[in-house]
Amino acid sequence: MKKFFNTLTCLLLLISLKSVAQSEKYTAFEPGKIWKDDKGVHINAHGGGIIFHKGLYYWFGEHKIAGPRGNSAQVGVHAYSSKDLYNWKDEGIALQVSEDPASDIVKGSIIERPKVVYNKKTKKFVMWFHLELKGKGYAAAHAGVATADKINGPYKFIKSYRPNAGKMPFYPAGTPADKIVNCEKPANTYDGYFCRDLPGGQMARDMTVFIDDDGKAYHVFSAEENYTLNIAELSDDYTSHTGKFIRMYVGFQTEAPAVFKRNGKYYMIGSGCTGWDPNPARWFIADNIWGKWEYKGNPTIGEGSKLTYGGQSTHVLPVQGKKDAFIFMADKWTPKNPIDGRYLWLPITFKGDDIEISWKDSWDLKSFK
Ligand code: GAL
Repeated sequence: MKKFFNTLTCLLLLISLKSVAQSEKYTAFEPGKIWKDDKGVHINAHGGGIIFHKGLYYWFGEHKIAGPRGNSAQVGVHAYSSKDLYNWKDEGIALQVSEDPASDIVKGSIIERPKVVYNKKTKKFVMWFHLELKGKGYAAAHAGVATADKINGPYKFIKSYRPNAGKMPFYPAGTPADKIVNCEKPANTYDGYFCRDLPGGQMARDMTVFIDDDGKAYHVFSAEENYTLNIAELSDDYTSHTGKFIRMYVGFQTEAPAVFKRNGKYYMIGSGCTGWDPNPARWFIADNIWGKWEYKGNPTIGEGSKLTYGGQSTHVLPVQGKKDAFIFMADKWTPKNPIDGRYLWLPITFKGDDIEISWKDSWDLKSFK
């Protein structure tokens, strides 16, 4: 009898747990709302990016904690996986901060905007991120790189540095002479920063990594005290810079770059530079990764668009199996309590080659044709 009741209790418990789990199943995106993982915890993957691998999407982002220290790296980079993009399974910490005070990624350093890519040649997963050395504020401006054999890690930290030391930019044929930086006589403040940093490498803060159809990888980052974006080619194994790069939209302080490709054209969405506060998004288009990149203004429209609905870009996600289906991913930062930061995911609409983004309280993948 006792056994019967025990079994019954177990069964009832299982049924109720299942219905809780089922009631938590998401069938739509609700930008700005709490977004729970499979454990019922708000997803902790800020400034993140997503890659698709063997039938699953993997989302990597900054693990934040509550309170004032929450924007520094106390834990590491968090990973999640999903089949449908609505419901995410906690895959744990992919890159752990180090306890070793001599490590660049020691607990208390700053690890931002991690992006993972897969290298077909080495069969390794490569994670790039913006790294600030502990206790130095945002002065180090390093790019950090880690690799793993399995997508969800553990990622092993390799090195952090300022890219392209001693290298001058690449200029496509036809670049006007006055656009070519001259370190004998820098023409303006940002050229001055470029030349100042030439021996030790360029500053690398907000960033993304983009893989082109031919498998070449590019690291795109805010350089020159954030005045300029650099688009820099990565080596074949994706773990270092080749020395070929362009300076893009020089002097206009673009942050939070997200790059994607559609119909042979390259797109970039970014933000202005106002710290954790939102500002108007900006987008660019180019026929070639090396430019010329054309500035196209703010892609967001309607109410709230002057401040990107309170968010800042982090990634543009191509949806598998659907044509012209790209999701604009942004972070709504909450610097006083960083763990509470929200995710604003919105569909990108194409008008010819132009893009537009508008606010939606709730939407799903059916809105892509
Ligand atoms: C933002 C940047 C974030 C973070 C923050 C620090 O502009 O996009 O990734 O670095 O500044 O204030």
